[in-house]
Amino acid sequence: MTNKTEQLAKLRKEALLGGGTKRIEDQHKKGKLTARERLELLLDEGSFEELDMFARHRSTQFGLEKQRPLGDGVVTGTGTINGRTVCVFSQDFTVFGGSLSEVHAEKICKIMDLAMKIGAPVIGLNDSGGARIQEGVVSLGGYADIFLRNTMASGVIPQISVILGPCAGGAVYSPAITDFVFMVKNTSYMFVTGPSVVKTVTHEEVSFEELGGADTHASKSGVAHFACENEIECLQQVRKLVNFLPSSNRSISPLLPTADSPHRLCPRLDALIPANSNKPYDMKEFIREVIDESDFLEVHADYALNIIVGFATLDGKTIGIVANQPNAMAGVLDINSAIKGARFVRFCDAFNIPLVVFEDVPGFLPGTDQEWRGIIRHGAKLLYAFCEATVPKVTVITRKAYGGAYDVMNSKHIRGDFNFALPSAEIAVMGAKGAVEILFRKEISEAEDKVTRAAELEADYNETFANPYEAAERGYIDDVILPHDTRKKLIHSLKILETKKDSNPWKKHGNIPL
Ligand code: HXC
Repeated sequence: MTNKTEQLAKLRKEALLGGGTKRIEDQHKKGKLTARERLELLLDEGSFEELDMFARHRSTQFGLEKQRPLGDGVVTGTGTINGRTVCVFSQDFTVFGGSLSEVHAEKICKIMDLAMKIGAPVIGLNDSGGARIQEGVVSLGGYADIFLRNTMASGVIPQISVILGPCAGGAVYSPAITDFVFMVKNTSYMFVTGPSVVKTVTHEEVSFEELGGADTHASKSGVAHFACENEIECLQQVRKLVNFLPSSNRSISPLLPTADSPHRLCPRLDALIPANSNKPYDMKEFIREVIDESDFLEVHADYALNIIVGFATLDGKTIGIVANQPNAMAGVLDINSAIKGARFVRFCDAFNIPLVVFEDVPGFLPGTDQEWRGIIRHGAKLLYAFCEATVPKVTVITRKAYGGAYDVMNSKHIRGDFNFALPSAEIAVMGAKGAVEILFRKEISEAEDKVTRAAELEADYNETFANPYEAAERGYIDDVILPHDTRKKLIHSLKILETKKDSNPWKKHGNIPL
């Protein structure tokens, strides 16, 4: 080897060691992988091409000029996931605790700029002590440079944040702007202020995990979309998600080959929905029966359980599913479920992913708690999201479609392309009990046998309204279909809609009720 090639080999070897073997051991002892090990698991074997391996910080404060590790605490580059290009950055906790310096931020911005130019997803593996304290405001500026790019890239390329260690203070706002946040139980946490500040300010005693761990964010705050058991499972899940997504808003999702026939009937569905409309059932069973090979990637699986959102394929093509869940709070819409649904609908619309809605909703949740916290404003988000979406939109009403919720859940009136109902559908302003109490209060109170009279009136009401035919008569429902035909019908509808073109009036941007 010549001196020059020797020098290159030496520098590469040095860069690959990050903060050194001792700190790598410490990282492993904490149950965490290194930045490079994570990239190996995330990307197709041998596909990673690193950029800026030789970047070093330029700081001279606090003796930093004597510590200038190659790469400066973040590994960046391109790779592939199932053969498709992605741009990645992976923070290296072994170098200054993965803290973000000017140069560290420049590397992240560079890879994000490349992703925007080539139209590829950005996946960020976060493991960082936050702003590099020695660099002061320069580091804060670096964060702001990233936030701006996150915002510019929103709706242009999919952005995925994977939290694999600390992510605190203002640093949380980059993941928050991205489309999907993954966390790992017990080794990752996110918060604006940590347990010690919380204790000083509010006198609450709370652990890291309880305040900002994976379970907390996946079930309580909704900040995390996926909470995984360990890093390996987490990175596998990221790969799975990427498979469903297009590379940018200029493309469509890749075709995912399936052995599941587009003509398959779903006889199990004929018996799934209980005859008694007050009895719950599991909408996830309905979904799994309809989609290809029952393969459903649920998003936000532990948050706002009364609505289900996630990705699947029908005849190999990606769809975004939004469904009410009668098994949780009877499938009612409340603040959290409306926000969860709205964000998902907007993601799908931005990235050309057709929406399939399974509807069984008794209405919006009543109560002072919901009203005072703004169910009006938050419920409007879901309505707005469905209204503005121009991707193919198909709805199947499985049972209840009551009140405003009927309109909201991708009704015909807000540009649902195909709206189907099962024979079990009940489409009305409200359920029989409530309606009869309002319409016939006087009559019931004067009746000799109040209970029997109320029951008679409810039966009458059900006869008239608890069916799909009033709506079908007006064309609000395109067809009433048998449950076992749902898959066939959806595949056929989406095939027809492949050439759909629709648009919204020109505007700088709308003003969704945030
Ligand atoms: C510089 C840092 C650092 C930082 C950690 N290190 N955080 N160096 N800037 N922010 C260094 C440590 O000095 C140490 O160096 C190594 O990384 C590992 O840190 P440890 O403390 O030994 O690790 P651990 O015990 O696991 O604790 C991790 C930690 C803790 C909880 C993240 O390091 C910590 O509290 N760091 C500071 C967090 C913080 O307050 N950041 C600023 C937040 S405000 P050696 O050489 O010993 O290995 C912020 C604003 C962003 O980020 C604003 C955006 C708008």
